[in-house]
Amino acid sequence: MSDLTPAPDPATGARVYELDRAHVFHSWSAQAQIRPMVVAGALGSHIWDYDGNRYLDFSSQLVNVNIGHQHPKVVAAIQEQAARLCTIAPQHANDQRSEAARLIVERAPEGLEKVFFTNGGADAIENAVRMARLHTGRHKVLTTYRSYHGNTATAIQMTGDPRRWANDGGATGVVHFFGPYAYRSPFWSGSVEQECERALEHLEQVVAFEGPGTIAALVLETIPGTAGILVPPDGYLAGVREICDRHGIVYVADEVMAGFGRAGEWFAVDRWDVRPDLIAFAKGSNSGYVPLGGVIISAEIAETFAQRVFPGGLTYSGHPLACAAAVASINAMTDEGIVEHARQLGADVLGPGLGEIGDRHPSVGEVRGLGVFWALDLVKDKATREMLVPYNASGEANEPMAALVAACKERGLLPFVNYNRLHVVPPCTTTDEEAKEGLAILDDALAVADRYATS
Ligand SMILES: Cc1ncc(COP(=O)(O)O)c(C=O)c1O
Repeated sequence: MSDLTPAPDPATGARVYELDRAHVFHSWSAQAQIRPMVVAGALGSHIWDYDGNRYLDFSSQLVNVNIGHQHPKVVAAIQEQAARLCTIAPQHANDQRSEAARLIVERAPEGLEKVFFTNGGADAIENAVRMARLHTGRHKVLTTYRSYHGNTATAIQMTGDPRRWANDGGATGVVHFFGPYAYRSPFWSGSVEQECERALEHLEQVVAFEGPGTIAALVLETIPGTAGILVPPDGYLAGVREICDRHGIVYVADEVMAGFGRAGEWFAVDRWDVRPDLIAFAKGSNSGYVPLGGVIISAEIAETFAQRVFPGGLTYSGHPLACAAAVASINAMTDEGIVEHARQLGADVLGPGLGEIGDRHPSVGEVRGLGVFWALDLVKDKATREMLVPYNASGEANEPMAALVAACKERGLLPFVNYNRLHVVPPCTTTDEEAKEGLAILDDALAVADRYATS
């Protein structure tokens, strides 16, 4: 790997940084308070900067580079497509778009038959909700507090996490409820089974009090991702499906983060054998090599728009470069057994390894996850489960997490963090050896978090 890393070039790095600071306006940030890392390149499970520092990417960037960086088959497909046809309007048929739709539908649960392509996850959610509203003739949408659904008007309103707060009011009819989270149960449950039962009972009540006949859709991250990798208890999603069926509510699975291998399945719902009416996807569908998202649509909902116009569209819907990247990525994931590898890596390396780390460190309250989708819920005190930093912590209050991230980076590991959680979310292609190397670094770095915890 190191022979493929270009020689350090700090002068170029400094120039890139200077221009970024002068002219680039970054997402979700107070612009004067950030110091972006200047990335020079990436390959496989690694990224590097201009100063000669190389990092094992345990973040997959924004949990989207499922196939790893610069997969040669995907790069070649984009290059070939660029030489052949860079772009085409969405009203025309295109070979890459047709093939990408076929490959996606082939992997989706039975009965999901068509794909509406978007530019990313937020607009996938936006359009899924629009379809559900028109299909049902109802307006309200139920989503969980612990969720992120994207940064467009409806999607940010549906989001439960604090990114919604400054954007509240952009859309109407969104109602939040609590999903299951046994470790920090909102229902005072004593077991996972009880959490499942009570979470479903709570949802049943929210539906009853909102008026079932007013609810168009229930939108649920199959495994809430940024909100904490909250793997649902067995039976929960089947219960959600049953509630939706009973009340004629469209069940939308947000698989933007959980789908395409992340959970060791093509779609995370496969693990529980549940069939949603609509699936929103994005990130892992082509690992973000070219922006892509979409909605996979059931035959019933597609039929609603057979003779009636669907009032939605995007200039770049089914963009040939993005679809060529999806075709190559899905084929490579299939041929190279990448989804199966992600499952095995979780079961044999990440799960057991993180479990041992959790036992060793007073700051690790809970380890949870599957596939290449893991969270450490960090605490001040294992007994009380007090969070290592408060919900929505920033500045001084976030100091323990900032110190932990710095310790990981000093040791060559790039983690993903959110409030009091560190997420272990490497590419699905990460080798067993790389995963073990990353776990060893994490084990060492967690000593920093332990200083803030009572042993
Ligand atoms: C579960 C989920 N839904 C939707 C989105 C929004 O996707 P995008 O940023 O591509 O618009 C994200 C992004 O992180 C996500 O994790």
